[in-house]
Amino acid sequence: NNARSVDENSKNRQLDEFRRDNSEQYLTTEQGVRIGNTDDSLKAGSRGPTLLEDFHFREKMTHFDHESMPERVVHARGSGAHGYFQPYDDSLKQFTKAKFLTNPDSKTPVFVRFSTVVGSRGSSDTVRDVRGFATKFYTEEGTYDLVGNNIPVFFIQDSNKFPDLVHAIKPMPDSEIPQATAAHDTFWDFASLMPETTHMIMWILSDRAIPRSFRMMDGFGVHTFRFVNEAGKGTFVKFHWKPKLGVHSLVWDESQKLGGKDPDWLRRDLWEAIEQGDYPQFELCVQLVPEEDEFKYDFDLLDATKIIPEELVPLQPVGLMTLNRNPDNFFAETEQVAFHPGNLVPGIDVTNDPLLQGRLFSYVDTQLNRFGSANFTELPINRPVVPVNNNQGAGFMRYTIDKGKVNYWPNSLGGGSPKMAPESEGAYVHYTEKVEGYKIRARSASFKDHYSQATLFWNSMTEVEKDHIVSAAHFELGKVETKEIRERMVGHFSKVSMELARRVAAGIGVQVPENFEQESTAHYEENAASKAISKGKS
Ligand code: HEM
Repeated sequence: NNARSVDENSKNRQLDEFRRDNSEQYLTTEQGVRIGNTDDSLKAGSRGPTLLEDFHFREKMTHFDHESMPERVVHARGSGAHGYFQPYDDSLKQFTKAKFLTNPDSKTPVFVRFSTVVGSRGSSDTVRDVRGFATKFYTEEGTYDLVGNNIPVFFIQDSNKFPDLVHAIKPMPDSEIPQATAAHDTFWDFASLMPETTHMIMWILSDRAIPRSFRMMDGFGVHTFRFVNEAGKGTFVKFHWKPKLGVHSLVWDESQKLGGKDPDWLRRDLWEAIEQGDYPQFELCVQLVPEEDEFKYDFDLLDATKIIPEELVPLQPVGLMTLNRNPDNFFAETEQVAFHPGNLVPGIDVTNDPLLQGRLFSYVDTQLNRFGSANFTELPINRPVVPVNNNQGAGFMRYTIDKGKVNYWPNSLGGGSPKMAPESEGAYVHYTEKVEGYKIRARSASFKDHYSQATLFWNSMTEVEKDHIVSAAHFELGKVETKEIRERMVGHFSKVSMELARRVAAGIGVQVPENFEQESTAHYEENAASKAISKGKS
């Protein structure tokens, strides 16, 4: 019962218990009673009213009436795939005790869900948007989720802005226009008033936001996370997925045409590749930063609008993920899978990144809304492949049957309640980090530079890529009716590059504002870290 060994087929075997093959079987009710006619309802006379006692009709219709569940509030449209992950060697052992990352003989089952962010479940695949790249590792030490995106930075620095961001980017609250596009005044209004979005906006206007295939895009954990080794020592880590097929994008014209002709383009591509045995592969890479170097760079490691440039910290390849099996059932697996950045295993921990901290609350909270019950963790796709034992055996839709009379801790009676594990037996121990300060509704001033990395991004582009960014800005901002918003955006671009600002301005009927300044509405507070970081800068 306490076995914790896992192989690449562990999840598949577990799912097998729940699979049902209906072919050649007699149709039955949910109670197993065989049905001989599902075409006609039971009536009082063949031209008479339908009878309430028709249990087959009632059950069939009731089930149908309840077949939908709330779609995800973001990332509603997605495609899933099963596979496995295998580390290349044990080189990460000095940094993390996570076994699935350090035992080269282990093949850990995974389920990946790729997604678009803004559109509804039925929206088009090829729109300009961020793509989600969420991976569930069913490890021998419990389930670990790496819930990432295909762009390495994010729009905002603090999770308290997330509902505003999403409200601004979703269709208009009155007309619900437009669907699955960022091209409307509200989003650009928000972005233009929030200087911290500038770096992400550069990525969003680039070809990265219109991937050619889910098999051909990067994945990023975005936040700085923390590895913890056997000795309890921490190391900062950024996660990257690199597609074996390389990164490829559509061009805008293709993206728009496909949106009409084949809105399932990305979904179909992933499905067909796997069906044909052309298995997508992604290399997991890490960037590692010793804790001593926390303030070494001219940006804050806790700021999710910043990358760690690879020139400063190179990527280290650590293993390979292969996606080799399509789901059997979209709803049961892809729709019902529930990721959560707080699903951690020993050896991996979070940091104080204020965007990450808010996510740790949001995912389970929204999933309670999606599933209506805390027992969604028992669904086949969500259950760990290792034993789960606890005293939480109640609530809607509970289907584990916990035996025994004792469901509390501590107890002296035994018989039911599980016991505590020591750390040597794999207990998760939160990283011991010193925290001090005053309670304050503010951000560190070390988060205040919103333009340097946007400039770095622009300067790293080829001429063709720059042309695409400018055309994308013309297309998107060209649809913004309010001139002041267009001007403010060009103002931000002038802080990134005057060339960019002039070229964008020329296509959207505005001038480049002189000496543009747009103060953030956020409150930035000087502190020891911001002073140390700005010292590093000078
Ligand atoms: C999905 C919240 C930032 C990646 C979601 C969902 C919520 C959410 C509520 C729906 C989950 C569900 O219904 O199961 C937030 C909040 C954020 C944030 C509050 C910031 C404060 C991010 C960032 C990333 C990200 C920075 C990438 C690193 C994803 C992905 C999904 C998702 C990939 C889809 C998961 C799936 O496929 O089911 N997010 N998110 N989110 N989020 Fe975030």
